[in-house]
Amino acid sequence: MIRSANKAKGNISSVFAHLGASKPEIDPRFLDLKKQIAPKNPDILRKAFDRLLNTMEKESQEIRQRGSAVIPEVTIEDIKNNGGRLPEKIIPEVKKRGTVVIRNIVDRALAAEYKSSIQDYIQRHPGIVGFPEDNPQVWEVYWSKAQVQARSHPNFTAAAIALNHIWHGDKSAPVNLDNNLVYCDRMRIRQPGDGKFNLAGHIDGGSLERWEDPEYRRCYTKILEGKWEEYDPYDVTHRIEANMDLYDAPGGCSMFRIFQGWLAISKITVGGGTLRVCPLIKEPTAYFMMKPLLEENMNTSNFMGAWPGRCQDITKEDHSHIVDNMVSVPDVDCGDGVFWHCDTVHAVEPHQTMSTDSSVLYIPSTPMCPRSSEYLIRQRGAFENGTTPPDFPANDCEEHFHDRATPSILTDDQKLGMGFSPIPESENMSDGELKAVREHNRIISQ
Ligand SMILES: [Fe+2]
Repeated sequence: MIRSANKAKGNISSVFAHLGASKPEIDPRFLDLKKQIAPKNPDILRKAFDRLLNTMEKESQEIRQRGSAVIPEVTIEDIKNNGGRLPEKIIPEVKKRGTVVIRNIVDRALAAEYKSSIQDYIQRHPGIVGFPEDNPQVWEVYWSKAQVQARSHPNFTAAAIALNHIWHGDKSAPVNLDNNLVYCDRMRIRQPGDGKFNLAGHIDGGSLERWEDPEYRRCYTKILEGKWEEYDPYDVTHRIEANMDLYDAPGGCSMFRIFQGWLAISKITVGGGTLRVCPLIKEPTAYFMMKPLLEENMNTSNFMGAWPGRCQDITKEDHSHIVDNMVSVPDVDCGDGVFWHCDTVHAVEPHQTMSTDSSVLYIPSTPMCPRSSEYLIRQRGAFENGTTPPDFPANDCEEHFHDRATPSILTDDQKLGMGFSPIPESENMSDGELKAVREHNRIISQ
């Protein structure tokens, strides 16, 4: 039997320092790392940071004025009518904001059915754990039939591929944006009045790794040179091989998650315990990457909110210009999706003030690349056995459930994204796209 190796039992609280996870010490060797990667002339970052603060001040006027409305939105019909791509006119805004709402991904009635069937599943199995322990809102549930169907819904796949395509990269980089693999994550049914699932500002995808791993650091070369205006947050070239998890973090994502996302399975209004984001991508990234390397911060190993084995915390104390510019995502209906760039600063509203539940299925956009294919076969094994996917706490709650989803419910198309059948090659693939497909097919045939 394949076990969810190396992960301890637990729930989402093991990921976040402010939900109870311990804060490890930062080794003094990180002081040397700072000296190694910061420009020798401290004026370079000082001036770059000053320019950045000016820009952020201007941007924040618009954010304060427009609030949630700064986040662009599009419908799945708009994407389908545009040959499966985001409409041209919205792309600059999506790129600038790093966050987008996609309406009507799943028919409202079907999305509501997803929720009620998951509620029934949870009710039939009282042993399922979640967070908080005494009244779970974020469930350690991965293999309900509704989750498996939603993740491979043709419209969801279409939305993911459209989002993948606002990225680009070196033509020889082994990534295929036309093929989206399925990442199996948990789900949330946040009850009215909940104040415990209160995630403060953070960024996923590791923390110290952004500076420490040479390949991950290459994504941010322009920023670390003080030329943050030239930084391109949508270049995949160095992301696909970047090591985002040097410390086996409990919240690490082993796939290349280009956009994080959720599908609403209830109506969720602002104030309903929804997602909050900083609706900019280039500027906040430059801010948290440069600030620990400013001259006044060079005598400490502290990387400001970055701890080994944790996600990047974004705090009022260290990152006030980011925290002060966060907004809630707009009201969404059942079946709408929200997606945010892998470096987006995000949080969860502290209180759920709606009178009805605020519920989502976490489903990201994860294009095919060798690292994702490697994880996919481990995840496939967990699916077959009903154990927890390898990235998550090894509770294995669903292992003996007879009513969980099994591979037999997948259609031929759904089998592709879950790694059960090979992806066909096509003539117009670039070298890199072909490399990704061939490597994928080799990996899943093991
Ligand atoms: Fe997160």
